[in-house]
Order: sequence, then C-alpha cells, then structure tokens
Amino acid sequence: MSRIKTVGLLGGGVIGAGWAARCLLNGIDVVLFDPDPQNEKKTGEVLANARRAYQKISPSGLPTEGTIRFAGSVAEVAEAADFIQESLPEREELKKSVLAEACETLAAEVIIGSSTSGLLPSRIQADLKGPERFVVGHPFNPVYLMPLVEICGGALTTQETKDRAAEFYTSIGMRPLHVRKEIDGFIADRLMEALWREALWMINDDVASAEEIDDAMRFGPGLRWSFMGTFMTYRIAGGVGGMRHFMEQFGPTLQLPWTKLMDVPDLTDALIDKIASQSDEQADGASIRDLERLRDDCLISVMSALESQNYGAGEVLGQYKKRLQKGDW
Ligand SMILES: NC(=O)c1ccc[n+]([C@@H]2O[C@H](COP(=O)([O-])OP(=O)(O)OC[C@H]3O[C@@H](n4cnc5c(N)ncnc54)[C@H](O)[C@@H]3O)[C@@H](O)[C@H]2O)c1
Repeated sequence: MSRIKTVGLLGGGVIGAGWAARCLLNGIDVVLFDPDPQNEKKTGEVLANARRAYQKISPSGLPTEGTIRFAGSVAEVAEAADFIQESLPEREELKKSVLAEACETLAAEVIIGSSTSGLLPSRIQADLKGPERFVVGHPFNPVYLMPLVEICGGALTTQETKDRAAEFYTSIGMRPLHVRKEIDGFIADRLMEALWREALWMINDDVASAEEIDDAMRFGPGLRWSFMGTFMTYRIAGGVGGMRHFMEQFGPTLQLPWTKLMDVPDLTDALIDKIASQSDEQADGASIRDLERLRDDCLISVMSALESQNYGAGEVLGQYKKRLQKGDW
C-alpha cells in the first residue's frame, strides 16, 4: 500500500479528535471537518493530553508530528485525503448523507473507515459511490492509546479494502481484529453491552451502586481481563482439567438465575467440543501451570503499573507493600 500521508477526518468529537491525535503523533497530516465552532479548541485539548501521554510512552522516540488543518467543508477533506475516517454521531442517515457528499470528490481508491460502534456496514455502504472501499474501523476511547480496532466489512466490501485498512491501522500502532461475520455491535461492544445491561438491572433492582459495580470490576475480573480474555481465564479456573472441567463445574449455573440475560445457548456436546477445542488451540500447547505463571506475571505487572498512579488496585498494592515494609502484618 502506498504510504498514507494525509488522513481526512469527518467529525472531530471524542473519537474524531482521538484519531487526529493518533495520526498526528504518528507523523501523519490531518484534515478535519466538524461544524462545531468549538471544535478546534476541543481537538487542541485532546491533542495536548495525547502529547503528554506519548511523552510518557516514548520520551525520546517519536516521529515528527504531522500538521492539522481545520477544513470548512466535507469536500475539502475529501480532496486532500489518502484515507478517510468517519466519526460522525451514531445516526445511520447522517453518516450515509455525509459520506455520499464526500464520495462526490473522493478519489476511487481512497478507503473510507467508519468509527461506528455498532451500525451495520452493509446498510451504510449500500448507496455509496464505490461501496467496496467502505469498511468499519471501530476504535476504543482514547483512540490515541487503545490499540484495538475492529475491522468489519459489509456485503460489498472487498477483502483488499479490509487488508489495506488493517495495514494502515497497524502502521499507526493499533491492533486490528477482523470481525468475520457482520453483526450489530461487532465483538467488543456486544460483550460490553451484556455487562452494561446486567449492571443496569443491578442498579434498577437496588442490588448494587454504580461505585460498587465498578469496584467489583476493577478489584476483580477487570484486572485479569486486561491481559487475558474470558476463555483463557476460565481455562485456568478449571485447574489442570482445563476448559472441559470448567464447563462441567459451571455448566449448571447457566440454568440458575445468575443473569437477567436468560436467553442462553443449550450446552450441547457439540458446543462443549467446539469451545474446548478452540480453547486448546488458543493455549497452543502451554500447560495450565505455564498459563498460571503467565497470568501471575501479568497481574503483577498491571498492578505495579497502577501502583505508580496510586489508583485502584495499585493503591491497594502500595498500601500493602508499605505495611509489609513496616513489618505491619
Ligand atoms: N465515544 C466512544 O467511546 C466511542 C467509541 C468507539 C466508537 N464511537 C463511535 O464514534 C462515532 C463518534 O462518536 P463520538 O463519541 O466521537 O461522538 P461526539 O458526539 O463526541 O462527536 C461527534 C462529532 O460529529 C460532529 N458532527 C455532527 N454533524 C457533523 C457533520 N455533518 N459533519 C461533520 N461533523 C459533524 C459533531 O459536531 C461532533 O463533534 C460514533 O459513530 C460512535 O458510535 C464512539
């Protein structure tokens, strides 16, 4: 792929400004259109935070920063861009009409990435000129630090578009994840949405407060999720019997009222086989003990990093270490 020198951004809110910062700090020029009169100021504030963060990540090794131009129209962005990233409000009709306007001017080979959190790419691209170059590139906030970008094509998106988009996102330090089957909410937002709905139920039913729910996450499973996902975590939780034992032990809980999301799949032998064999493949020959050591090392690394911020689990670790130093146990 020829190097992307200028990225055109449509929408410069929370996510668009984050894209601007990631691109600029990776040495790419940005042309941004957002009708909000406050946008230049807001983008500048996000950029200042991003510069500060990148200084911490890499104090001496950053590329020369790109330049940013605040455009007066969609066409001005389309004329200048080697790659478009759309971060308009999450309204399908608005995205479709602004992108149709951009396509009037945009060169045929320029890819359009969309930041949509969950709208279906097939629907957004349906009436676009050159629909094959449209693809979802769903980022996470703050875009300049979070590595994940979910790539999801619609029915008319070519594999080449997905590959070129992945190559570009990789070049600016991100971790593309191809969503193979088009689905509302993609992968990560579906998971977050399930958690969110359950959390809303617990608040609604006075089971727990927002702070208590956040504490349950940040002092517990959230720590593990930051380096191992649900499946690898549960594999280890099954002990040396691994995922099969875990599923035998906890399979019956699917029938218990542990969640309001009661529409769960039947645990057929075929489904258990499928999950257990995918888990075997994911483990790639590592033993449970190997994985336990990896898990522990990662946990310590994350908590030590949080300790330097004296925040969350890091505050707990810092206080514990002080007590140990004083011989106070
Ligand atoms: N906020 C998140 O955590 C998050 C995470 C991932 C993806 N997203 C997705 O990113 C997209 C943008 O979300 P956001 O959180 O940045 O929203 P936002 O409201 O912060 O920003 C949207 C921006 O679009 C601008 N805008 C409105 N009409 C426009 C037009 N016609 N042309 C150009 N700009 C226009 C607004 O002025 C605003 O600055 C959405 O699709 C959202 O689902 C959001």
